[in-house]
Amino acid sequence: MGLKRNLAKILSSALAVTITFSTLGSVPVTAYAQENAVAKANIELNGQYKTNLSGLTSDSVGEWKVTDEGLHSNAVDKGDSFVYSETKGTNFVYSTDVTFKNTNSGAAALVFRAQTNNKDCYVVNLDANSKKCKFWRWGHNKEDQRLEEDQLIDEKTITTTESNKYTLKVVAIDSWISYYVNDELVASTGDYTLQEANKGQKTVYKDGSLGLLNWNGDMVFQNTYYAEINDDFTPLLEDINITSSTGTVEKKTQFVPTEPITIQYVDNDANTVNVEVIKKSQSAVIEITDENDIKYSDGKNIPVKEGKNYITITSRITASNGLEAVLTYRVNVHRRQKKEVYYNELYRDQYHYSVKDGWGNDPNGMVYYKGKYHFFYQFYDDIIWGPMHWAHATSTDMIHWEEKPIALYPDANGAMFSGCIVIDEKNTSGFFDGIQGGGLVALITADGNGQRIKLAYSTDEGDTWTKVDEIAADWTDDPLKDAAFRDPKVFRWENKWFMVIAGGPLRIYSSDNLKEWKCESTYADLHTECPDLYPIMADDGTLKWVLSRGGRYYKVGDFQEVDGNWKFVAGDGYNVSNSDKDSGIMNFGADSYAAMTYYIKDFGTAANPTLPEEIVEVNWMNTWDGKGEQFCNQVAQKSGMKFNGTYNLNLKLGLKKDKDGKYVLTQTPIKAYEDLRDTANKIEKNNVTVNENSDLLKDFKDDCYEIVSKFKPQAGTKKVGFKVRTSDIESTDIVYDIDNENLSIDRSKSGIIINDKVFAEKNNQNVQRNDDGSIDLHIYVDKASVEVFTKDYTV
Ligand code: FRU
Repeated sequence: MGLKRNLAKILSSALAVTITFSTLGSVPVTAYAQENAVAKANIELNGQYKTNLSGLTSDSVGEWKVTDEGLHSNAVDKGDSFVYSETKGTNFVYSTDVTFKNTNSGAAALVFRAQTNNKDCYVVNLDANSKKCKFWRWGHNKEDQRLEEDQLIDEKTITTTESNKYTLKVVAIDSWISYYVNDELVASTGDYTLQEANKGQKTVYKDGSLGLLNWNGDMVFQNTYYAEINDDFTPLLEDINITSSTGTVEKKTQFVPTEPITIQYVDNDANTVNVEVIKKSQSAVIEITDENDIKYSDGKNIPVKEGKNYITITSRITASNGLEAVLTYRVNVHRRQKKEVYYNELYRDQYHYSVKDGWGNDPNGMVYYKGKYHFFYQFYDDIIWGPMHWAHATSTDMIHWEEKPIALYPDANGAMFSGCIVIDEKNTSGFFDGIQGGGLVALITADGNGQRIKLAYSTDEGDTWTKVDEIAADWTDDPLKDAAFRDPKVFRWENKWFMVIAGGPLRIYSSDNLKEWKCESTYADLHTECPDLYPIMADDGTLKWVLSRGGRYYKVGDFQEVDGNWKFVAGDGYNVSNSDKDSGIMNFGADSYAAMTYYIKDFGTAANPTLPEEIVEVNWMNTWDGKGEQFCNQVAQKSGMKFNGTYNLNLKLGLKKDKDGKYVLTQTPIKAYEDLRDTANKIEKNNVTVNENSDLLKDFKDDCYEIVSKFKPQAGTKKVGFKVRTSDIESTDIVYDIDNENLSIDRSKSGIIINDKVFAEKNNQNVQRNDDGSIDLHIYVDKASVEVFTKDYTV
């Protein structure tokens, strides 16, 4: 395709030509998109303008002429004026000097990977007046040709030079694009240390032509060169290894040469680390600096404090034309606290999974595969939410977990928001050719400039992932055109893949290969995050489908083809709407959100369902809703913990018919918790009478326990229940109010009140007593949580 041009050839051909330059008659200034297609003028080169671009043409918006200073361009008050070249590139370093003649206005830009229409491209610029840099991806809507401009970084201000001369440089390797001004890194896709709000983009342009852009300015371009980056000439690193002469380094995280960030955990005794760099090109020159800009020429004995330490590694390589390609990597060496701190923290639950350090929210990619439960979750190395990664842990019983390295990092498509994992046993995706039994496919929300579904696959049980460049589904292609298009949950039914996806409105998609998706149905009036949809064999032997709205509410119904499209059809007592009345309550406690079920196997077909023995769900034990404040972000700050992310009990799901014939959901803690019972020390009281002054349990003292109880209130009894975690001034009260038929948990006196709005409010739900007038309370108390089940696990 002529994309991989021979650099030497281009160099000689470009410099040999002589020039004259003429402008075409002036045309009204409108968007460049229409403009550049209209009129083009060749720019002939005479050696005064040094470049190895070939076949330069300009649009007719501004003036472009070669002078003894270089390529002079004047587009003052004219808007965008472009120069395009015939030079195309896939992976390259591309650079120009630009001198602003007038610093009151105007911006100079490099244009690269422009598509054949010359309209869809990347643009990095520098504004002469504000000294701000921008980085765009310009695209045109496939349907209506509307210009879509995605800004890929926060604007960055750079240092002014006396000469008004700047060097703009882009290094583009696969999806990793970095932008330097005067050798200062101003943008790097996926590098959230540089631009925390990862703006993301839809499908990355992988190749295209190079050009220049003048917006409203008067400027001279000079030394416009590019050099191809290939296997022999590349600043890419093969690997970065962290070792330590003083302590232990935890299991190595996956290193992807074209992604800027990794996190490597080390034990507390590792107070210094060594950074070992493996280069792809031996001539690359490496520089290693710590957060204080101290350089380590040999990369050895770099001091690291407890917590995160971002070490910067730059790799530079110089092309034969003198052009230097540079990449900037960051390794966050996270030094753990002392071993004895962990799992002994005051508010660390003991039999619930929690993130060891930092932040965790939604459960992601839960899958049971080759004898192991895999639990991934939304992660950031801080105690508040930030650019999302996927963390990973595995277990054989869903209670004891092994920590794994961070699995997925933010990248050029955005931050890694919530998603799921399926087992592609039959290799429907084609990712597992020649691999018996297929492998795992992750469907991830890439968040930034709207949301889209990105794939990654693993052939080693989730230890390492290969991300797929092609976006599987993008919000812009969805019929509802709502940028909230996230949290895909995929299942297999009737020999097809199905996906529920929402964030805003719910949609159902289908696919044969996990790579291409078709919208089956949309639910504009049903909004949720983290939807889930699964079949359950109800207690009357009927297969029904449960639609979970983020683990807060649910609807029971059928999943069926209606007029050729697959739909969720709400059953008796439920409706497809946002109204809580049209749903069942899944969890009345505030701290319970974003539930997900494990992918275990293909659900089979209506004729021959192959449902797993157990469908198990887990919630994030937290909530965003802080009545105006983000409650979850306050938890660790207020409680003084260095971790913020605990998950509810693993619950087995079931369906039963209630008195009125309506299907209701049962959520029962999995059997494995019974193995944790310290039966030798259990306290059992049978047929005892309690009253207001009961001291039945006064000798019992613990912070991790289970209560199994049944109350038979005598006439006149107002309230029954338990006070747990009590002291003279503190308690958490679980109370059933008989007259009001209401069960509540009150934590307004439970110690640190995280937030006086949400935290101090009673959580409650109306519940009728059992038919015989009794009330059951099954309570799980852990160091920092209380979970209550009643009414045959329907509440
Ligand atoms: C729910 C949620 C999801 C999103 C994720 C981001 O808690 O907002 O919708 O994918 O968190 O971390």
